[in-house]
Amino acid sequence: MGIYVWGAGCGASQLISKGLEIGKISAFVDSFPVKSDFLGRPVLRPEELPVADCELLIVTSRHSGDIAGQCSRLGLDRERILFLKNHCRLEDMNASCTTAAEKLLGGELLERLLPRQRVISSPALLSSSALPERELSGDYVRLAALELICRRLEGKVPGAAAELGVYRGDFARCINSLLPGRKLYLFDSFSGFEPGDGAEPALQAAHESAGAEAVLARMPHPDMVRLYPGYFPASLKGLEERFCLVSLDVDFARPTLEGLRWFWPRLNAGGCLLLHDWGNPELPGAAQALEQYEAELGSSIPSIPLPDMKGSLALCK
Ligand SMILES: C[S@@+](CC[C@H](N)C(=O)[O-])C[C@H]1O[C@@H](n2cnc3c(N)ncnc32)[C@H](O)[C@@H]1O
Repeated sequence: MGIYVWGAGCGASQLISKGLEIGKISAFVDSFPVKSDFLGRPVLRPEELPVADCELLIVTSRHSGDIAGQCSRLGLDRERILFLKNHCRLEDMNASCTTAAEKLLGGELLERLLPRQRVISSPALLSSSALPERELSGDYVRLAALELICRRLEGKVPGAAAELGVYRGDFARCINSLLPGRKLYLFDSFSGFEPGDGAEPALQAAHESAGAEAVLARMPHPDMVRLYPGYFPASLKGLEERFCLVSLDVDFARPTLEGLRWFWPRLNAGGCLLLHDWGNPELPGAAQALEQYEAELGSSIPSIPLPDMKGSLALCK
């Protein structure tokens, strides 16, 4: 029984330089072998892999999905495959193989070899007991982007944070957690959408039960939170403030446009306004409102589209 390495090229040489002794490798496997041996070990085609002898297959190629399929056809189970790279797959390809890999490689080497796709800490932060999470935890890109944006704002851009469209406070508490020293203004009717804005009965019903006090109770730093219940912009009641970060997430064109008109001039230089649903074909109002607001301004706002689940747009001041 031995260790096999998929890929007889740069990835394999990095593996050796990170500490896997060549003497521990039985053979290399490569779909397109250039030579019959690599670093003194034979290079096999996938169909030549002696599956029964393979205790661990370390995959250095990026094409993890294809290779997983080939291994399955060869009869090699996932418990014996360690993927070091991952071609844009968010799935943890190594979920079932850690025990075998740790036994053969040792915990320290395994830790060094394992891929680091999740460079951001938010998902861990949100799954901690301090911030148990539901649906948002599935939108890694949205959370990771928020974390990086907050990191960039900290110490550089003055002003409070705000969210218009809070619902149960899922995203708001990420903001409150990532910018603990900033005031966080939360604007929501806490009873759903304004009549006439276009909410279907089911959507309206789903948003009716959220209450302001329940949202406040979920915030990790409630002392920094300022609640503004009611329909926006009437709910502002003469508020004046400057902002470093604004999340705009009210689903429909009219309140989005009101939000842009009020928040954008009050966003400090270097600040960011996150427009949720900008790329969401199911809620085209967000993109329509931005188009109208830019027409009013007579210029387009510098922005970066995010590949999160609803196609947020980061508007940069
Ligand atoms: C999609 S939810 C917000 C979700 C939240 N941002 C999150 O990610 O967890 C939209 C919210 O916008 C609120 N809303 C819509 N129009 C509004 C208005 N004119 N004034 C105040 N709140 C409004 C609704 O009550 C609803 O809670």
